[in-house]
Order: sequence, then structure tokens, then C-alpha cells
Amino acid sequence: MVMGGERASFSEDVVARATRVSHKEAGGTGRVRGAPGWSLPRVFGSTWQLVWAILVATSFLLYSVYFLWWTQPMDGYGRLNSMQQEGGCPSGGREWSGNLRKLDSAWNGLCFGPPPELLRIALFVKKWPVGGVPGGLERHALTLHKVLAGRGHEVHVYTVSGDGTLPEEITQEQLHVHFVKPNAAGNLDIKQAWEKFLEANSSKAFDVVHSESVALPHWRARNISNMAASWHGVAYEVIHSDVVLDLMRKPGEPRSAELQKVLSERLFKVTEEVRFFRGYRHHVATSDYVGDVLQTIYEIPLENVHIILNGVDESKFRPDSTVGVSFREKHGVPLNASLVIGAAGRLVKDKGHPLLFEAFSAIIKDHKDVYLLVAGQGPWGERYKELAPYAKTLGSLTPLQLAEFYNAIDIFVNPTLRAQGLDHTLLEAMQCGKPLLATHFSSIMKSVIVNSDIGYIFAPNVDSLGEALRSVIRDGKDNMKMKGKFCRSYASVMFTATKMGAAYERLFLCMKKDAYCHYPLTTDCKIETNSYITH
Ligand SMILES: *[C@@H]1O[C@H](CO)[C@@H](O)[C@H](O)[C@H]1NC(C)=O
Ligand SMILES: *[C@@H]1O[C@H](CO)[C@@H](O)[C@H](O)[C@H]1NC(C)=O
Ligand SMILES: *[C@@H]1O[C@H](CO)[C@@H](O)[C@H](O)[C@H]1NC(C)=O
Repeated sequence: MVMGGERASFSEDVVARATRVSHKEAGGTGRVRGAPGWSLPRVFGSTWQLVWAILVATSFLLYSVYFLWWTQPMDGYGRLNSMQQEGGCPSGGREWSGNLRKLDSAWNGLCFGPPPELLRIALFVKKWPVGGVPGGLERHALTLHKVLAGRGHEVHVYTVSGDGTLPEEITQEQLHVHFVKPNAAGNLDIKQAWEKFLEANSSKAFDVVHSESVALPHWRARNISNMAASWHGVAYEVIHSDVVLDLMRKPGEPRSAELQKVLSERLFKVTEEVRFFRGYRHHVATSDYVGDVLQTIYEIPLENVHIILNGVDESKFRPDSTVGVSFREKHGVPLNASLVIGAAGRLVKDKGHPLLFEAFSAIIKDHKDVYLLVAGQGPWGERYKELAPYAKTLGSLTPLQLAEFYNAIDIFVNPTLRAQGLDHTLLEAMQCGKPLLATHFSSIMKSVIVNSDIGYIFAPNVDSLGEALRSVIRDGKDNMKMKGKFCRSYASVMFTATKMGAAYERLFLCMKKDAYCHYPLTTDCKIETNSYITH
């Protein structure tokens, strides 16, 4: 554990190790990344070669011991406990202390007490969910600021109504939502929003200004010192999706004009972002990977980069086997199904549905007792119907039905091809105690599927997904249950709405007063050791 250095990290080494193990054990991909490419020389023709051979042998021995330690059979809790003794992820059993602005891992791993003072917070967000199904960013904004208002802070939101109308201001206790008329393109008219904000600021100054992505443009944000922007995906990480989409072309199939355009423009988007991100003072990365990219590629100093992973409403998404059973009954899942796989979201190509469709079609040739439930809407909904009686499309579900859906499945699969941000569905499924199978994007691997107890990863191609599905089937339902318990424990520390809210609160406090950047304060809680073992 490095404590004296410039960078403070309590989880780096364990997450790194966990990630390495996940590649070996998750079995999903059958690929061992980072395996040393060593080979012993057949004859020791010189002293140099002998020395080299000894070195290799020693490091192999060390590597094996460490690998054995990591792969020894332990249930999820056993491993979590040992992680804690190590002071590792997620919450560093050994008490972490220091300056939060030097922390280069997720704040979610810490435990924050009640706020030592209440803040006045302004939020700019492009849309506020009013009716309809909100997108990921809007849901994040809503969940987060409800928690902040619930903790007693006065929150003022400057936004446009999701349904395109101009509703009256909404006031729910400490949460005030000020709507402005959408501009001609239906977006947030920043001039109006800014005027409303200045008016409120002149009556009583805001402690912090928060922008979800670029809702408050950089040229407006530039002069505000108490300014933080949250990034739910940056152009640099999208390069990975671009590569994936290009690789999906069949041999000889030409690039579409659209793909050609996207590929040729992406790097310009990156440098453009690097330039204008400087206009914002504080940056919240919603995944560990983006935190790293912001420091390296985007050249933002570590003390202005804060990793706060998304959380989901833990009162809505929680394990409940009774609703799971009735959901299965209601939707006619066969009683003799040995494994129920679930997918949810928009059923479009970008979300990887062509891959899942193809991989699952192959699986049911050999496994007549696995079942696929697909929640959501989109062009691929119709295709899945072809896989009846082994698959069923459920259409769009409300958040309440979605919670029932997660409880009805054995494992949640998210084959997304978009490397941007962290999908809420992953966190919701974990909160409901379900393991995950997802694409091996860095954001997912470094922040969510950090080891094989949480689930499986696969490379975004049909073969790799098929292999991962076969591992899941081989491991079986009971193993999924055990992994699911681990997921629930991990998520109840890392991915609750309350934890996300408390972490943002602390960041905002720290932006106001340096003393609050210290961790722990006397009001802070002990790291939640028990939450691992009580669910
Ligand atoms: C808000 O008000 C405070 C106090 O008057 C002032 O210092 C600050 O510059 C104002 N913020 C903006 C963005 O104008
Ligand atoms: C920001 O401050 C600089 C000087 O400090 C000033 O020239 C510029 O007009 C300000 N920009 C905005 C958008 O207020
Ligand atoms: C499951 O049960 C149904 C009837 O309820 C039957 O048609 C089907 O063949 C069974 N599947 C397996 C794999 O046993």
C-alpha cells in the first residue's frame, strides 16, 4: 500500500490482481491476457543465458504461488474477507486515510458519515425526466440529486423537461427544478438557464455548480472555481467501440459511409475534448478507466480528477426470490429450465444484440434447457421471437417490473458494443444479487466485473460470447447463486444511490473547504465490513 507517495491508492494492487484473475478464471473468454510469454532456453550456452533462466524460473515460481493463492477455492465472502485484510478493493479493510484529492481509485470504497454542513448546489443537466423512459445520464442526475436533497442540501436544477413541454417549477422539499423553454433544436437554451442561475446566485451564492457532461458549456464554466463536471463517457474510450464495430464487418464487406465518417473524425473529437475539458475545474469520472484517461490523455491533474462510480436506487433493486418466481410464472418460463439468462436495454445493434442472438442460437442446439428472457424494445426484439420456445421478448419494463425481471433470472448478460460509461443495468442486476456476463471493455472490467466472483467477460465477437455462455452453463445455477451473493455484497457497498450521493456530497464539501478533503473526518463511518456478510 502506497501511502507516502504523491498518489494515494488503496485498491490499485488488488483490483489489478483481481482483474488478472478474472481473465483466467472467468473462463468467459478462454483467453489469458497478460500471461507471461516466457520459454526456457534449451541449452545454457552462456552464463548470461543461465542467469536469465534462473530469473525466469524464479519469477514463474512467484507468479504461480500468487496465482494459486488467488485461485484457491473460497466462497465469495472468503475472498472478500481476504481482500479486506489486504486493505484492498472495494473498501480497504485497513483504514485508508489521507487527502481525498490524491485518491486515484473510486470514492465509493470509503464510508462517509453525515454532512458536517449543508450546501447550496446548482445543477445543469440537458434534460430532466418527466414522463417517458429516461436515458442513463438523466437517471443518474435524478437519482443523485434526489439523494443530495434528501441529505438536506438545497439543490437547484436548471434543465429542460424530458417531454418537451415547459412545466412549472417543481419543488420537492430541498429539490427545486427550474425548467427553461427548449431551444429550436429541443435542447437546453443555456442563455435562459444561465440567467435563471445568476438570479438565484445573486440572492444567495451557490457553494458548488455541477454540470452533467457539457450541459453547462466550457466557455461558461471556465471562470467558475467551484465547478465540477461529471463525464459519463469520453471520446477516447469510444475509440474501442469504433474498432469493435469495424471488426464486425464481414470479410470483403465495405465500410458504410457512416462508419467511415465516424472513424475518420474520432481522433479530432478526442483532441477537441482534451482542449475544452480544461474549461472545467473538477472532473468526476464515472469509471476507474475514465479516471485514468482523464489524467493521462486529457492531461488533467490528479487532484482535479475524482472517480465516483454510479449508484442505483437500492430500495428499488434488491433481492426478492418471491417476485422472481411469480415473474417466471407470469411469463411462462418453463419449470424445467436449468438456467435462465436475462438481457435488458434497447434492442439495437450497438448494444450487441446481433452477437447475443447468434451465440444463443448456437447454444440451444446443444442445450434444450436454457432460457433467455429479453427486456426492452428495438429492432432485435422481433428477431429473438424466432428463438421461441427458448427465448422470450418482454418489451419495455417499468423500473418496478425490471426489478422483478432481475430477480427472475440466474445471470444477467449485457453484450454492449458501446465502450462508453457504465451501464446502469449491470449495477441493478448486481443489487438484485445476480452475476454478470459482459463485454470486456476497460470501464466494465476495472470498475464492475473486477473478478470472477462477479461474473464473466467476453471479447465482442460471437465465438467469445458463445464460449462464455458455455462456461456459464457448465458452472450451473448454484454457482450463479453463489456469485450472485458476492455481487449483492459488493454492490451494496459500491453501487448504491446512497453511496454515490455521499461521495458526491463529500467532493462538493471538499471543493468548498480544504479541511473536508481529509479522510476520515471524525463524523465518517467505519468501512462497512459487515455489509459484506449480512445479506
Ligand atoms: C455567485 O455569487 C457569488 C457571490 O456574490 C460570486 O462571488 C460568484 O462569482 C457568483 N457566481 C457566478 C458564476 O457568477
Ligand atoms: C472569464 O474571465 C476572463 C478574465 O478573467 C474574462 O476575460 C472573460 O470574459 C470571462 N469569461 C466569461 C464567460 O465570463
Ligand atoms: C420441459 O418441459 C416441457 C413441458 O412442460 C417439455 O415439452 C420439454 O421437453 C421439457 N424440456 C426438457 C429439456 O426436459
